[in-house]
Amino acid sequence: MKTEKHDAIVLSSSDEKEILKNFIQHFKNAPLPDDEMLSNLGLFLSSKSLSRILFFYEIYKKIIHSHGIIAEFGVRWGQTLSIMSVLRGIFEPFNRHRKIVGFDTFEGFKGMSEKDGKRCQCGNGSFSVSQGYENYLENILDIQEKLNPMAHIKRYELVKGDAVETVPAYLKKHPETIISLSIFDFDIYAPTKAALEAIKPHLCKGSILVFDELCDDIFPGETVALNETLGLNNVRVQRFPMTSRISYLVIE
Ligand SMILES: C[S@@+](CC[C@H](N)C(=O)[O-])C[C@H]1O[C@@H](n2cnc3c(N)ncnc32)[C@H](O)[C@@H]1O
Repeated sequence: MKTEKHDAIVLSSSDEKEILKNFIQHFKNAPLPDDEMLSNLGLFLSSKSLSRILFFYEIYKKIIHSHGIIAEFGVRWGQTLSIMSVLRGIFEPFNRHRKIVGFDTFEGFKGMSEKDGKRCQCGNGSFSVSQGYENYLENILDIQEKLNPMAHIKRYELVKGDAVETVPAYLKKHPETIISLSIFDFDIYAPTKAALEAIKPHLCKGSILVFDELCDDIFPGETVALNETLGLNNVRVQRFPMTSRISYLVIE
């Protein structure tokens, strides 16, 4: 159930894990030349990995006509931030206000409590990344922006540290913030609740909140945090058919 390094959870069956190991070997040993590698990344997609990209494609289309930034709460290796940057390049390359801001300790979970239950068998530090990973991710996001117009204006920010402190501090420093899209993927209660409380005054009608773990018995804390802040009775939790785990709601 856990990855060999970094204590992350994998729900694949043992057969699937064997197939994926084989896939990874083919990926690492790909005989493609360097100058054809990135344009052929589709070779290495699976229906599961593509479904996540399609989810965010659908969500991005929903925010195009609303003003404000994209915030991700729980970045880890940063693939969702990277997908958002690419979608911004496709749909609104000249929208300089569509900043993308990612919050993470870059040292794994921080602030686990009894509201997170026992099923995940995680602790503080689970879902960590390699040391200094945020520098590598900055390089990737810089490259993404350089491949699009207005590359001279940096339109992303990584905020490192415990979100219980960093999210309120960021919003205090940037009182002009309107949140068009928030992506919640801390998995656990304390930072999710703190971030939800902090962003409330920065939401407008039409703002979208995405959640990775609602109604998830392995990570109950995310649902508890939503219930305690916005109230489950007050929101319409929706989904798309291609992903089972990710859901979203629109502030009405
Ligand atoms: C499941 S991962 C996020 C995955 C990511 N959204 C993606 O698309 O691949 C959860 C992340 O939440 C972060 N996290 C957990 N508790 C945190 C806290 N108190 N403050 C900041 N980040 C935290 C962890 O470091 C981890 O990177």
